[in-house]
Amino acid sequence: MRIEKQRYTERFGSLKINDVQKVLELDSGRRADMPLKEAIAVDKIEEDVIKDFEEKMAIVIPIKDEKLKLFEGVISGVPHECLIIVISNSGQEPVDRFGMERDTLEQFCHFTQSQALIIHQKDPVLAQALAQAGYTDLLDEDGKAVRDGKSEGMVIGLLVAMLAQKEYVGFVDADNYFPGAVWEYVKCYAAGFSIAQSPYAMVRILWRYKPKISGEIYFRKWGRVSETTNKCLNSLISSKTGFETDIIKTANAGEHAMSINLAKILPFASGYAVEPQELVSLCEDYGGVLPTANQKVAKHGIEIFQIESRNPHFHEEKGIVHLREMLLQGLSTVYHSQLCEEETKRMVIRELVAQRAAKRGEEPAKPRINLPLRKMNIKSFIDFMAERMDSYSALKG
Ligand code: GDP
Ligand code: CO
Repeated sequence: MRIEKQRYTERFGSLKINDVQKVLELDSGRRADMPLKEAIAVDKIEEDVIKDFEEKMAIVIPIKDEKLKLFEGVISGVPHECLIIVISNSGQEPVDRFGMERDTLEQFCHFTQSQALIIHQKDPVLAQALAQAGYTDLLDEDGKAVRDGKSEGMVIGLLVAMLAQKEYVGFVDADNYFPGAVWEYVKCYAAGFSIAQSPYAMVRILWRYKPKISGEIYFRKWGRVSETTNKCLNSLISSKTGFETDIIKTANAGEHAMSINLAKILPFASGYAVEPQELVSLCEDYGGVLPTANQKVAKHGIEIFQIESRNPHFHEEKGIVHLREMLLQGLSTVYHSQLCEEETKRMVIRELVAQRAAKRGEEPAKPRINLPLRKMNIKSFIDFMAERMDSYSALKG
């Protein structure tokens, strides 16, 4: 794969936020022995290097009641070397949708000999393992089950990836229409990690186009929700540095990946606040404005890559109410940040009212933020779950 070199990086304390890097070529051909003429501007990431990173990566697919055909397509797009981890919160009654997902995955693994795990978010064993590990943040009021939410599914996926001793985790939504796009996202994750210098790295995907169908297909560059969330997050940063910036272009990137090292120190917000909250928390903890959360991490620095994929992003459209909810939850992370000053707060409120995600005079609710994983006893979770892992494996025999 060939991607643009990092041309521009903004530093905010120990955070290095790289401007968008475009994918230039999906398949960059055989390894060349000669020095590359284009090397000043372009990084060529060799196939075997990508494979090495895929081998160390788990792909976590959170899923809730998606069309089975979409799920089937998504898993077919995950490169073979990756471990697939499906965390499902799909219904089991009256129709056992979870059972159907498991069957689909088992059949896929049978014929491809891929490695995959599938766990239901409400599996009581998970709740027990979390309680034992002192991580009740993720559990509902009675402490008997993991709460609903995509973010909660992601966190379970991260823990299972740690159990499987992976070094990187990439997230891919189950409602992607194009298996080719899924394939490309994972290549981009691997490419980003291969360039990273710090053990604390994150890759966020920016899509080139997000098509809308209304009569004919229109290839839109940005969704309104991401545009607004980016703007408010950039305003948050600008107000602290005194220089206007538009560096953040992937505030809502559901398709993103991180090193396990980084995953351990990140607090994850519930629901759709999760992706923007990652950036907000990094700015708070390592932006150099508030006290630094962890000196060791700060010494290494944290690298964020934003890679623009070639495939258009096409997923299930869940309607305007869903979009408003996403906007509200996303912007609440900015609004309630300790870094947020009056001007950005006003901007958030203005946007929420204009897009009818909040009423005039209403404040967004505080996001619920789960403790970073390093505060729990990860080893206890792993020990508890390890004995039972076979039953979650989709590759039998
Ligand atoms: P959007 O793509 O950001 O608009 O949000 P989606 O509603 O498509 O959700 C993203 C992914 O999370 C999809 O694959 C959903 O099926 C999945 N998802 C949504 N809610 C839950 C949940 O409660 N638990 C799990 N495990 N996955 C969820
Ligand atoms: Co979606």
